[in-house]
Amino acid sequence: MTGRIRVPGDKSISHRSIMLGALAVGETRVSGLLEGEDVLATAAAMRAMGATIERQADGDWVVAGVGVGGLMQPAGALDMGNSGTSTRLLLGLVASHALTVCFTGDASLSKRPMGRVITPLSQVGAQFTTYPGGRLPLIITGTATPVPIRYRLPVASAQVKSAVLLAGLNTPGVTTVIEPVPTRDHSERMLRGFGAALSVDMDDNGARVISLSGQPELRPQTIVVPGDPSSAAFFVVAALIVPGSDLVLENVGLNPTRAALFDVLRQMGGQIDAINPREVGGEPVADLHVRASELHGITVDPAVVPAMVDEFPVLFVAAALAHGRTVTSGLDELRVKESDRISAMHAALTMAGATVTETADGLIIDGSGGKALAGSGEAAITTHLDHRIAMAMAVAGLASERGVTVDDTRPIATSFPLFERLLADLGAA
Ligand code: S3P
Repeated sequence: MTGRIRVPGDKSISHRSIMLGALAVGETRVSGLLEGEDVLATAAAMRAMGATIERQADGDWVVAGVGVGGLMQPAGALDMGNSGTSTRLLLGLVASHALTVCFTGDASLSKRPMGRVITPLSQVGAQFTTYPGGRLPLIITGTATPVPIRYRLPVASAQVKSAVLLAGLNTPGVTTVIEPVPTRDHSERMLRGFGAALSVDMDDNGARVISLSGQPELRPQTIVVPGDPSSAAFFVVAALIVPGSDLVLENVGLNPTRAALFDVLRQMGGQIDAINPREVGGEPVADLHVRASELHGITVDPAVVPAMVDEFPVLFVAAALAHGRTVTSGLDELRVKESDRISAMHAALTMAGATVTETADGLIIDGSGGKALAGSGEAAITTHLDHRIAMAMAVAGLASERGVTVDDTRPIATSFPLFERLLADLGAA
């Protein structure tokens, strides 16, 4: 793993740039948009509700917005594919419009809980009909008379926070979200960037209190999307565990609410230097220089979980190659991602020859001490329609004797369409 690479645009920021661009008055230009299936599902949905969204010849995207409150009734159901972020954030937007919208998704998304957004959005005044268990497919009927709510998040979820704030955009008065544990703050940053009045205070218990004044006029923006740290994560771990590696990843977003994986890997002995730190599109960015390193196991502080919630599959791979034991806990949310990532990675790493124990809320991994894993050979690891399981196990394959086979690589295109090509360019077979 030697050379210089650039990972694609940040998925969370890409979704939000399309949604807010579609609600501004005028043309928003987005460069570096992630052209993965999840973001394209968001773009298709916003088009179906009236926005004009086009890719230019130079690769930039131009979004002509309808203005806050201007979303229109889509002609058919909105297919969210694999994307929980599209679904939950768009439910927030629709909740405060007098529209009736049907949301559908693939087999993975149809298993994921929607009750976490249905509860606050019902308080706003939206009505829902869902499959049993509050799952997709579901029909939401938004309200013409939305109520501004004050909502305390019961789970650390940026998607729930964002759904409530986006509902608050077309709601008169002040919508407030109280966040006891900080989660990614891209919505707050971008809402402000588009000109919304949004304040963030701390309450007496140290919780973040986020207040948004409804019905602003959003001003169109020029947005440069930084590289996705969650995509960079796979190549950072690959470079750490493949002997002799020396890799530079350019333009990686290092928002502190996202970047905990890199700190955890450094604690494990990983040589990761952030060079040329700068700001891109209101977000901190740097190039990461990563060298192959002797890793040692640690106990991961559960307080960092929200700031690396998507990075555990690949952290588990790093732990499987480390010296000694790595203990993780507090990972309950991983059970309701694109797959149950605790049990999926337990099964996957075990098949690849690692020593792994599953607990109620995490994994305990006894590392190989730098020795290549046996690998799964021809036996296919089950990825459960989860892009991050597929990519994490591809990385494990790089540090294995017989290689790793996964049952399905298609889900990789939801977040990182060029993953396989980039790996091949670096010399992986
Ligand atoms: C995201 C929030 C996280 C994360 C997901 C993207 C977002 O989900 O796992 O990949 O863009 O807001 P939760 O809010 O469910 O933790």
